[in-house]
Amino acid sequence: MTALTRLRLTDFRSHAALDLKLDTRPVCLYGPNGAGKTNILEAISQLGPGRGLRAAALPDMTRHNAPNGWTISATLDNEQKLGVGLEPTQTGHKRTIRLDSAPATVTDLAELIRIVWLTPDMDSVFRGGASDRRRFFDRQVMAHIPSHGSAANRYEKAMRERNALLERGRVDPAWADAIEGRMAEAGALIAANRARVLTLLQAAVDARPEGHFPKGDLALTGPAEQAATEGAGMMDIADLIAEDLAKGRYRDQAAGRTLSGPHRTDLTVIHRPTGAPAGQASTGQQKALLIGLILASARALCEDGEGPSPLILLDEAAAHLDRDRRAALFDELLSIGGQAWLTGTEDYLFEPFGDRAQKVEISP
Ligand SMILES: Nc1ncnc2c1ncn2[C@@H]1O[C@H](COP(=O)(O)OP(=O)(O)O)[C@@H](O)[C@H]1O
Ligand SMILES: [Mg+2]
Repeated sequence: MTALTRLRLTDFRSHAALDLKLDTRPVCLYGPNGAGKTNILEAISQLGPGRGLRAAALPDMTRHNAPNGWTISATLDNEQKLGVGLEPTQTGHKRTIRLDSAPATVTDLAELIRIVWLTPDMDSVFRGGASDRRRFFDRQVMAHIPSHGSAANRYEKAMRERNALLERGRVDPAWADAIEGRMAEAGALIAANRARVLTLLQAAVDARPEGHFPKGDLALTGPAEQAATEGAGMMDIADLIAEDLAKGRYRDQAAGRTLSGPHRTDLTVIHRPTGAPAGQASTGQQKALLIGLILASARALCEDGEGPSPLILLDEAAAHLDRDRRAALFDELLSIGGQAWLTGTEDYLFEPFGDRAQKVEISP
């Protein structure tokens, strides 16, 4: 079990100086709207790969009018100290990462801490566009495979080059082949990562207790992901992507963008109790399904044997549940074993935890 036993924020969003001393139990943050609860979860999310819970730019997280960027320091229950921060430089700013006071990398941190989260912004994920669902799923993939983000960056970069090349008009086929080759190599890795995590996630969904949070059946629509799911090797997946891209050059030139590839993949979710697509379920059913998925994602991270148990950040998840469901959520969080962080406006919301959780009041 990995837990934070201390969290200190300096000039991070609304927090000039916050110092929380904790034990390994779930942490329930309560306080009025605007107190800075979500800001604390966002700070924790900065300890993982990617852009964090609000996908904000690093300078936007600096407290208004603070002159020196921000810092987050966390102590794990094994006494290791992690720190991330933003420092102004002469030309802009730089992100700093420290592990036990020595310079470190995102990858170093990823070996010590893994994070999943659920926020009210994600409530519309099943009704929204494919890109929202893809981003949601890729976040789960990144929690399992921290290098997934850099494969995605390489893919996007090559795709921008391809789009620019096509836009220029007369296309040199050798040049296009080379760029598409790079997209295919990164794309195959993306598809293989996704297929692997989809399998883990579905197994964790199936293994969850039946009850208040319904199960879903997950699938990925992309041909590359489908090939990966069926066991195709990396070279074959890359060939598949490259062939599709080469075939689509004229079409993409006319469209002004790339219309095939893993950046178009959608996650489909079927609400198992009704057999209908999740987007057609009621708002409450969708929320319960989403909570179930995040719990499964956390469970998969606990059981993959490849790293620490995750921190589970649940922003405002308790407020919309009736008392029975809240109690069921808390029971399941306690059984998963990763340290949960929950927020709510009132402390009575967390009452079913009893003394199995710690309550921390956050004042504006
Ligand atoms: N960069 C920033 N500097 C100072 N305050 C900020 C910054 N970004 C957001 N805030 C403030 O943080 C508050 C919202 O915090 P939040 O964590 O979302 O509250 P809640 O407790 O409701 O979750 C708002 O008052 C907002 O103005
Ligand atoms: Mg909030």
